[in-house]
Amino acid sequence: MTEFWQTSLIETVQNSQRLTRSATQFADLGRWLARYTEAAPTSSNQGTAEVPFQRWFHFKEAFSPKFVADTLSALPYKAERCLDPFGGSGTTAVTCRMLGISSAIVEVNPFLADLIEAKLAPISAANFRASYEQLLSEIVIEPGDKALVEGMPATMTEPGVNGRFVFSADVYTTVRAILRASSRLEAGQARLLRVLLGSVLVINSNVTINGKGRRYRRGWESRQRTASDLISSLDDAVDMATDDLTLYSNLPSGEHVVHRGDARTALAGVDQADVAIFSPPYPNSFDYTDVYNLELWMLGYLKSGPDNRTLRHQTLRSHVQMKWQNTQQLASSVSLEGTLEALRRARTDLWNPHIPEMIGFYFDDLVTVFGHLRRILAPGHHAIIAVGDSQYAGIHVDVASILEECVANLGFRVVEQGAIRSMRNSSQHGGGLELSEHCLVFERA
Ligand SMILES: C[S@@+](CC[C@H](N)C(=O)[O-])C[C@H]1O[C@@H](n2cnc3c(N)ncnc32)[C@H](O)[C@@H]1O
Repeated sequence: MTEFWQTSLIETVQNSQRLTRSATQFADLGRWLARYTEAAPTSSNQGTAEVPFQRWFHFKEAFSPKFVADTLSALPYKAERCLDPFGGSGTTAVTCRMLGISSAIVEVNPFLADLIEAKLAPISAANFRASYEQLLSEIVIEPGDKALVEGMPATMTEPGVNGRFVFSADVYTTVRAILRASSRLEAGQARLLRVLLGSVLVINSNVTINGKGRRYRRGWESRQRTASDLISSLDDAVDMATDDLTLYSNLPSGEHVVHRGDARTALAGVDQADVAIFSPPYPNSFDYTDVYNLELWMLGYLKSGPDNRTLRHQTLRSHVQMKWQNTQQLASSVSLEGTLEALRRARTDLWNPHIPEMIGFYFDDLVTVFGHLRRILAPGHHAIIAVGDSQYAGIHVDVASILEECVANLGFRVVEQGAIRSMRNSSQHGGGLELSEHCLVFERA
């Protein structure tokens, strides 16, 4: 499995041939991958803007379908069932579906879990379009649609806080009305519509989102989005999804299970897999619940303030936006001890004083996940992960070396590793330096 992520797209397609079950399936896969733009680092979602299914929602933290296809074809055995404990936008699941491989996926964020399931479900494009058009013709805004959901940030809609709000009243009430009407659709159609509505929320808001939170667009006050802006972008999203569903309507649906919940516990419900391919959250203090908060609130996944806190508690301890409780230390590694010691010494220079503990908890959580993988994967089988380093106050967190040491006594050894790309460190995290993103191939002894 030497540097398999360095292959050209043509090689990826050729190498995948032995994984597919029929000439038709191989042709479908080739057509699908051909929409990927090759210039991008394979561990990022760049280059996937035109890839059917992947283009339904711009999930910045995704890896590419090429990465999954390259990994599967580099294995010394033919995988029949693949696991991804951190499903995200479902890249592993969708690529497996294209290859006729079964998958088991875990995802804690209910909006993302719906996104994954929507991509996997064989829905009739014509029926979905008919239901959507009917629904639009019947939309009624009710007086209560203006109200904030209990616990929702008051900035979500007008009047907002200090004159600032994320959605104009027109967009906000229309989203609420579409959502209410969608509950009358058949479950698979309702889920697909929710996901597509989620994909057009940010572009119809007054903010942009990145790892550091929300930022108001320049001049947002004078360019409020309207209900017709929202419907027009939703129409485009429905066109795109129905095109993809039509193009792949003959794809066998295969066996794909999405486990909704925290991988640290939900993996107990996965019995066996031939390989695990995943990218966990990085220890970079990126809070997924926060970044996807607009979708979670507006689409009804969060119904109260405590729901938001519960979901954050279920995410991997890779950020300091929560006050984490002390738990038993599971990760043991010389490199980790050295890093934690350096971080504690620099505590007063860190942008948050709890960073040293968060880093320790992060590796404890990954050890818990690998504890499950030890049971799920048979000896000689593999866990392949893409993960990035971090840096705080000039102290480098060498995730690859630390993880390698932490999971050695669980019987996992690294048989292949290499840098996939370098990433710029954010100024908040100590500035300037380039950080590596690695591919690590662990083999279960
Ligand atoms: C780097 S992203 C995975 C991206 C994915 N490989 C893709 O291509 O879309 C990490 C994912 O882990 C999820 N996550 C965070 N904590 C989790 C937990 N405890 N259990 C399961 N999923 C979790 C996040 O919601 C996020 O979707």
